[in-house]
Amino acid sequence: MTPRAAVVVVAAGSGQRLGLGVPKAFAPLAGGTILDWSLRGIRRARRIAHVVVVAPPDRVEETAGIVQRVYGDDAARIVTVVAGGEERADSVVAGLRALGPDSSAVLVHDAARALTPPEVFDTVAGLVLELGAGVVPVLPVVDTVKRVLPDGEIAATLDRRELALAQTPQGFPRAQLEAAYGALGVAARGYTDDAAIHSAAGHRTVTTVGDERAFKITHASDLDRAEALLSGMGPARRAAAPGVEAMAGRGYRTGVGADAHAFGDGSPLRLAGVDWPDHPALAGHSDGDAACHAIVDALLAAAGLGDIGTVFGVDDPAREGYSGLAFIRDAVALLKAEGWRVHSVSVEVVANAPRIGARRTELEAVLGEAVGAPVTVAGTTADGLGLTGEGRGIGAVASALISR
Ligand code: CTP
Ligand code: MG
Repeated sequence: MTPRAAVVVVAAGSGQRLGLGVPKAFAPLAGGTILDWSLRGIRRARRIAHVVVVAPPDRVEETAGIVQRVYGDDAARIVTVVAGGEERADSVVAGLRALGPDSSAVLVHDAARALTPPEVFDTVAGLVLELGAGVVPVLPVVDTVKRVLPDGEIAATLDRRELALAQTPQGFPRAQLEAAYGALGVAARGYTDDAAIHSAAGHRTVTTVGDERAFKITHASDLDRAEALLSGMGPARRAAAPGVEAMAGRGYRTGVGADAHAFGDGSPLRLAGVDWPDHPALAGHSDGDAACHAIVDALLAAAGLGDIGTVFGVDDPAREGYSGLAFIRDAVALLKAEGWRVHSVSVEVVANAPRIGARRTELEAVLGEAVGAPVTVAGTTADGLGLTGEGRGIGAVASALISR
């Protein structure tokens, strides 16, 4: 099993600079609150097993309601809500105390970084577990940085190549961070992030590439930016995730794929990942599953990786009788290795028989499992025309939506 980590989400601040008169995490954002959006991102991270939300003491119950809204039935199993303290460091300590016994790595995250993508949590957690060191996501400094004297005169120009902007989630071996906070006591309040506290205790901290979307909502203009990013998305995508890739210049890609096989000898038919006992089998080097093969082509095309023939070969002896679902899994693994994420797939079977509609839900579940994303399945006949219309075989077309 993939080793996993816990996250302490600090959300107990008052939001003075935002100036809305409500604690920042509870400020409205795109149909929810800042905290809703933070938790939606974390929920989609694969390596996060436990989440501790640190709330303002008088909002613990309201916070539990937000957790329930985001996590549903998983809330009780995954999320703990505790009351925070006066300063951020106090809130982090309160969160650390609520960790369960089995988290060896802990990430500390500002709820105010509401649009942080799930991948950042996975990357940081993975590196902490791999390196046994602290890990901080950072962005390069784009402006020239000056050291300025109190009277406004410039004292020095700093080399910005040596500087970086620190974000959260920052991850640490749990025992190291707990000991570091323990050693400092109230002096921890004097540090501005967890990495500084961890380093002060003499531990090694390394950086990883941060993400523009992990910006901290501090002032009203930051909230406007977050709102604008989220409002550029349709309701379906909003519901699914904070995936604002397109807005951040990380383009989506689509691909189409098509395939057809003639009927061969025997039965059953293998189509869209399932057996159809009363129908004739399709001929082919593999299992002849035209619907799965069309999906594979759509996925590979979207990623610009070629097609099923060029990637897997049409006569590879290792893939004789290979199932269409296994081809899909291989293609998805290939995309993942290239950094792609699959959002959805749609496939239409062109055949006189069998009738797709009768088993649509089942097919969508089986294919969705293989793709690891929603798959919709449709069927049509070809008006008596061509291979499929004349009933000599079955065809399929598919499309895929992916992003990196
Ligand atoms: N935080 C916290 N407990 C505190 C202070 C801050 O949990 N006593 C959290 C905030 O909720 C936020 C994160 O630490 O998610 C980063 O702090 P900041 O951006 O400064 O938020 P606020 O303190 O709420 O804002 P401000 O400083 O403008 O009042
Ligand atoms: Mg603050």
